[in-house]
Amino acid sequence: MERDLIRERAWELVEKLTLEEKLGMIHGAQLFSTKGVERLGIPPLVMSDGPMGVRQEFEPDCWRAVGNTDDMVTYLPCNSALASTWNRALSFAVGSVLGEEARGRGKDVILAPGINIKRSPLCGRNFEYFSEDPYLTGELAASYIQGVQIHDVAACVKHFAANNQETERLTMDVDVSERALRELYLPAFYQCVTKGNSLSIMGAYNRLYKEHCCQSKYLLGEILRKEWGYDGVVISDWGGVHNTMLAAESQLDIEMSVTNNFQEYFMAEPLKEKIDQGVLSEAFVDEKVVHILMLMQRLHMIESEGGKRKSGAYNTPEHRQTALQAARESVVLLKNEDACLPLCHEQIKRILLVGENAKRIHSNGGGSAEIQALYEISPLMGIHMLLGGNVTVDFVQGYESMEKGAQEECNWQERSLEHGGGFVYTGKEDTKEAQRREELRNKAVEQVLEGNYDAVIFVGGLNHEYDSEGRDRSDMKLPYEQDILIHELLKVKQDLVVVMIGGSPVEMGEWIGEARAVVWSWYAGMEGGYALAEVLFGKVNPSGRLPETFYKTHMDCSAHCVGQFGGTDTVNYREGIFVGYRYNETFGVEPQFCFGHGLSYTEFFYEGAECKRESKSLENDGGILVSCQITNSGNRAGAEVIQIYQITECEEGKIWPATEEELESLVPVKELIGFKKVYLESGETKKVEILVKDIREGSKIGVGKSVEDICLVIS
Ligand code: BGC
Repeated sequence: MERDLIRERAWELVEKLTLEEKLGMIHGAQLFSTKGVERLGIPPLVMSDGPMGVRQEFEPDCWRAVGNTDDMVTYLPCNSALASTWNRALSFAVGSVLGEEARGRGKDVILAPGINIKRSPLCGRNFEYFSEDPYLTGELAASYIQGVQIHDVAACVKHFAANNQETERLTMDVDVSERALRELYLPAFYQCVTKGNSLSIMGAYNRLYKEHCCQSKYLLGEILRKEWGYDGVVISDWGGVHNTMLAAESQLDIEMSVTNNFQEYFMAEPLKEKIDQGVLSEAFVDEKVVHILMLMQRLHMIESEGGKRKSGAYNTPEHRQTALQAARESVVLLKNEDACLPLCHEQIKRILLVGENAKRIHSNGGGSAEIQALYEISPLMGIHMLLGGNVTVDFVQGYESMEKGAQEECNWQERSLEHGGGFVYTGKEDTKEAQRREELRNKAVEQVLEGNYDAVIFVGGLNHEYDSEGRDRSDMKLPYEQDILIHELLKVKQDLVVVMIGGSPVEMGEWIGEARAVVWSWYAGMEGGYALAEVLFGKVNPSGRLPETFYKTHMDCSAHCVGQFGGTDTVNYREGIFVGYRYNETFGVEPQFCFGHGLSYTEFFYEGAECKRESKSLENDGGILVSCQITNSGNRAGAEVIQIYQITECEEGKIWPATEEELESLVPVKELIGFKKVYLESGETKKVEILVKDIREGSKIGVGKSVEDICLVIS
């Protein structure tokens, strides 16, 4: 009803517009904005990047930051961090902060969330994405979008679709089976546009089945509009359009790009010429403008039902509180032998932090996801803040990165589309650096030996030199010879606490056997360093769970050992649906840490799992109601993530199928179908109920802590 009404109103307006006016609305007139039509009260559509905050202001026609001091914002944990919380309500809250800040900064569309499936740990933009699992991604991203959009700002879920690597992202063609597309790469988008009701969606740079996604008749026309009934706005990725006729005839609504020749964009003058020549009908343009005008009504930008538009707010104390809570819940305790952690504040007089990431700032890097954070608490600052003045907190660098900090050139974005739009980054090494690294290492080890410290924490991992748009990693190795450093530190300090910060997993094989306490922290936002300190010192009980498999090496990941990845014209996703844990579990490849893994300082005990069939009702679609009891049997309060998997035994699953037909009929042994995060006081028991969709015939339901740790199975 509402839909019909706003469509009707949009058509009424379209009739009043000239062709020039309409064309102005369907392509960039500035780097982040289209043109409005003043005489009819139609404003331009103003966009900005996310997802970790609203990006700084740029000049309208040049990638130079304006440089004012009023565009600093709340820096939110990256989407991988958010996914680690497995917390829908928190995802909604984080989305709500982003939406309110975007509105507060005067934006109409926030270019977030990024939800592409993590097919390989090497994809440089993985930190912007949620998970390797479509269900987890879809659930969290849909909540996030709902949070964004309560503030009269449109989310723009991106990048549709199968945008799973940066290498040659502008030209590469994805060759993926229809089944894998439907079961793995599309479901989260479907959730985002249906349940999440995302008011806009961004096309991907890459090609799919030979068509560029931003002008694909199949993806945008057949699937998005026809099958899914989508009537939101489809925006191209910046520079993702390549042909006037194809773009005009596809279901793309707005063409954006990285250069300032706005009138020459494919959907600007060249499109007008086609209409003037009579080779293209103006009706295609009208349909696009209708979508845009419907969006403007939904956001209360132009006359609509439902009152005044919200004004938003940014940098509020409540926003910082949400950033802190999300950071806390995102920390994943990977290993904790001999209860090394938490550290005891009272027993510590001297503490040493080793590693550049202890004091590094990450908000200003990563590509289009960079932001100007209002502040960013580093781990060093967070630990110092928490311990106060009676404890000596020392720092020694230990290793040195190459990155300069902020984006190296102001014109990064335009340049980033050269060379096919992305490449494989192998790092920069030279002998002088090797010498320098040895010096730094020796100094750190000496300081540990001589400093008489009660605790030593190594804080290393990656940074946005590696986790970045426009580049993929060549492997999962820790850069800057950190492996050697950790190894040497462990020799002199057996209870060394190892903290890794990064947007994607790293190889740990060189030292994981010896390290007793290992903590994973993502780019966790402005409060990340403080949240980490709270976890290390037991003020917060860790409750993060891995939203992706941490492989031992990237060659254990199916995209690399079965499929193709990287620099070929056509990238064959030969692994089909067997991505992430679906591959490892089915084919018996042991990861370093499995999907869903994450320890706590307390113990959770499961019992009494049951299930019953629920019929469809007004509140839900029906399915199977799984219930069980969870008890916190330890002596601290904590949160557990109950994970539900569909389990399908498959005998022949251990060997990679010989033919495509065999592969097509094979199902994964485990698939996530439900989850819930539950808070329990020490000694408390709760009954948990989770509604899951119907399962495959002959399959079972497993309840547990991770994909590997399923303790209760119901047939
Ligand atoms: C990225 C998008 C981003 C856009 C605008 C592109 O390079 O792929 O994710 O929203 O630029 O900055």
